[in-house]
Amino acid sequence: MAYNQKDYYFNKAKKEGFRARSSYKLIEIAKKYQLIQKNDAVLDIGCAPGSWLQVIKQMTRGRIVGVDLVSIKPIEGVTFIQGDIEDTEVKKQLQGKFDVIISDIAPKTTGMRERDQAISYILSRESFLIAKKHLNTNGNFLVKTFQSQETEDLVKEIKPHFSFVKRYSPQSTRQGSKEIYIVATGFKL
Ligand SMILES: C[S@@+](CC[C@H](N)C(=O)[O-])C[C@H]1O[C@@H](n2cnc3c(N)ncnc32)[C@H](O)[C@@H]1O
Repeated sequence: MAYNQKDYYFNKAKKEGFRARSSYKLIEIAKKYQLIQKNDAVLDIGCAPGSWLQVIKQMTRGRIVGVDLVSIKPIEGVTFIQGDIEDTEVKKQLQGKFDVIISDIAPKTTGMRERDQAISYILSRESFLIAKKHLNTNGNFLVKTFQSQETEDLVKEIKPHFSFVKRYSPQSTRQGSKEIYIVATGFKL
């Protein structure tokens, strides 16, 4: 294991029973923007290994669905769909409306920065298209993306559909990371 993984949030997650350090990013953002209310139905895109699902479970008694390419250890009360979000079959399995849709989706990085950024943009945009289809009016959306020239395009595309949109970089994000989150609340068609 790389030394830098053994950092503060890594150790904290281990101690508190979260499957990944990224749990703290969601806790921070959800608190700051009051993203998830106690009866909300929530869809988590790119959910493996499931630390965001663990956080969501603590925040709502509503329906929780997670989707990812790779399988996860089951979490009671969570419906898991395994597959690629760009796949038509997977899209068919995503049914109904949600109050909150969050996406921590990220490509497997290759080290080729522009390529990784381009794939990240496609996945983040796909998450937005899913949100557009499955969010209830006034619902909230959160998506991660690797910062690039396309980030501005994505923000521009998202903006007209929400009453509030902001780029946010959580404190628990690793130093030097090029990822940011787009927080969007108050969905309108
Ligand atoms: C940073 S991880 C998510 C971590 C998660 N939020 C947690 O806290 O446990 C990003 C995930 O996106 C998933 N992913 C990448 N491309 C995908 C795709 N096309 N369809 C579904 N999931 C995808 C990866 O398999 C990976 O598990």
